[in-house]
Amino acid sequence: MSEELFIEAGAGKKETYESLLPQLAALIEGEPDLTANLANLSAALKEAFGWWWVGFYWVKENELVLAPFQGPIACTRIAKGKGVCGTAWNEEKSLRVPDVNVFKGHIACSGSSVAEIVVPVFDGLHRVVGVLDVDSELYDVLDETDVYYLELVSQLITRLLK
Ligand code: SME
Repeated sequence: MSEELFIEAGAGKKETYESLLPQLAALIEGEPDLTANLANLSAALKEAFGWWWVGFYWVKENELVLAPFQGPIACTRIAKGKGVCGTAWNEEKSLRVPDVNVFKGHIACSGSSVAEIVVPVFDGLHRVVGVLDVDSELYDVLDETDVYYLELVSQLITRLLK
């Protein structure tokens, strides 16, 4: 796979995801190193959508620990059930938070982030092994289309882990 993404300028969100997904699959195909793959997935998503923060937290000894990401520095550890990330892990489902100010327990790693989506990453046995977290500094940017496609990105990682 060439190390350049093709992202059509001015394309809609759905079209951008549709063209991005096969590129993401190709990017990680054949590479067994998880850190390398999570790093490239974060970079590709950041390049395609320009979000404030995008990256991963990974489950280690019953905590979420900061993993590859793109954006400003972030909290390193999140307990199960805490914040949006720890809640998505605990509930084993994607969470879309259109306004972080009204999510009880939201962890403000950055005061600039106002909206967030967290999608769990499952292993082949359907255990949560990490989360994919996207933060925006704009309201009304992250919607259900993002949830749908970010879950497909998460499934690419599940396939890697099988
Ligand atoms: N806001 C998240 C913490 C992680 S940062 O946004 C990168 C949360 O509430 O879990």
